[in-house]
Amino acid sequence: MIQNYNQILVENKTMYTERLKLRPFTIDDAKYVYEYASDEQTVKYLTWPMHKDIEHTKRVIENFYIPYPGTYAVEENVSGKCIGSLGISINDKSDSVTYGIAINSQFWNKGYATEILTKAIKFTFEVLKAKKAHGEHLIGNDASGKIMLKCGMQYIGKGLIEIRGENKDTHQYAINLSDWHQI
Ligand SMILES: CC(C)(COP(=O)(O)OP(=O)(O)OC[C@H]1O[C@@H](n2cnc3c(N)ncnc32)[C@H](O)[C@@H]1OP(=O)(O)O)[C@@H](O)C(=O)NCCC(=O)NCCS
Repeated sequence: MIQNYNQILVENKTMYTERLKLRPFTIDDAKYVYEYASDEQTVKYLTWPMHKDIEHTKRVIENFYIPYPGTYAVEENVSGKCIGSLGISINDKSDSVTYGIAINSQFWNKGYATEILTKAIKFTFEVLKAKKAHGEHLIGNDASGKIMLKCGMQYIGKGLIEIRGENKDTHQYAINLSDWHQI
């Protein structure tokens, strides 16, 4: 480990892209998060289960989003609405960073996830000063793979993740600091 990553995340709780604000979640986001977390299409390829009611969403925000720096609400500038989430997870032994992005399906194909991932990778190498950025998606989630390629990651092969006791195949992508400078 070369950085105090957690401290850097705490110091960068809010970030901006051209059309979005990435900021800490609040409990007031619950109605917006529930809108996409209870949508079958949005959660189809995610590792977490569909939310059954808004109380479920409130518990998730309180227990898993608010306490963890690196978990960002995605707020659309034009509507002021929380339309998704970004998770930045750091493995400090390997100095590598992994991302999780979810966008409300009503806002798909506007380039938002590409904008978020571009910012997250720039943050990874310029601010966190990590050595590697990594991402993976369940097989079939081709839009996710496309975004990672558009943001400069290379396909590195198949992987496996366990979701609620079941092994699922994934496709994995990565980019190293040395390659990112060449983009
Ligand atoms: C994956 C996800 C984050 C993409 O968000 P988004 O804001 O719609 O992404 P963007 O608009 O930046 O880019 C989507 C790209 O995928 C393409 N695309 C959309 N559906 C596709 C599909 N079924 N197959 C291949 N490409 C597809 C779009 O054409 C676009 O590429 P383009 O800009 O070159 O035209 C969004 O679909 C989502 O939240 N899905 C549910 C959660 C999820 O699966 N998260 C990723 C977990 S690994």
